[in-house]
Amino acid sequence: MRKPFVAGNWKMHGSKAMIGSLISALRAGAEQIKGVDVAVCPPSLYIQFAGDMLLESQIKVGAQNVASVAGQGALTGEVSVDMVQDLGCQYVIVGHSERRSIFDETDEVVAAKVGVVLEAGLTPILCVGETLEQREAGVTQDVVAGQIGVVLQKLGVSAFNNIVIAYEPVWAIGTGKVATPEQAQSVHAFIRSLIANEDSKIASNLIIQYGGSVKPENAAILFSQPDIDGGLIGGASLDAGDFLAICKAAGEACSE
Ligand code: PGA
Repeated sequence: MRKPFVAGNWKMHGSKAMIGSLISALRAGAEQIKGVDVAVCPPSLYIQFAGDMLLESQIKVGAQNVASVAGQGALTGEVSVDMVQDLGCQYVIVGHSERRSIFDETDEVVAAKVGVVLEAGLTPILCVGETLEQREAGVTQDVVAGQIGVVLQKLGVSAFNNIVIAYEPVWAIGTGKVATPEQAQSVHAFIRSLIANEDSKIASNLIIQYGGSVKPENAAILFSQPDIDGGLIGGASLDAGDFLAICKAAGEACSE
């Protein structure tokens, strides 16, 4: 059985004071985290600070993005996977829709980043999802298949032994418009079938998170869908009470 995984994507939010009180509150409520893997992804500058505060806790740390090449180099402003690994990260969010749309990351760049993250021994959280226009045009499956297809083609199905996929419909991110459990389940099942076409065992072990306006009020029903294995949480991960309630919902729903 798959163990659900909930990750908080803090995006460009936080300060030492804010992160200090958020993590203290998460640690104080940690008894709510049962039967679920949990990580938080602070802005890169705060990874060390957050990681230090989370030492010996069950909450792991991830990065929100890394450069598409590993190691060191003349790439002003970039952060490499080796650096976030050095600071204790176990996960890296790759191909978030904000990176794709605002920073022009193509499927090829995203696949290259997935490759460097895997190479470093970290787990990529590969984000995929359609825009509202694409959903209305009926091409959701084509879009998601294309985004995953480039990674499959470049790295092969065995890479998916160590990849987490986050299905995040772009129209649901930060909008308060959550996908219905049926809409989400149907895309999650489709994603699993894409991988199953190549290798059914890898597909059945694959963690597929849902992301997009997950809140304590809608978490349980989303996570009780058979192919939804937790969530990638934006706004609600900035509130310790909400984030813990979502982690608890994942642990409970997926153990049923
Ligand atoms: P949201 O963001 O929960 O604020 O909708 C999710 C995400 O962008 O990962």
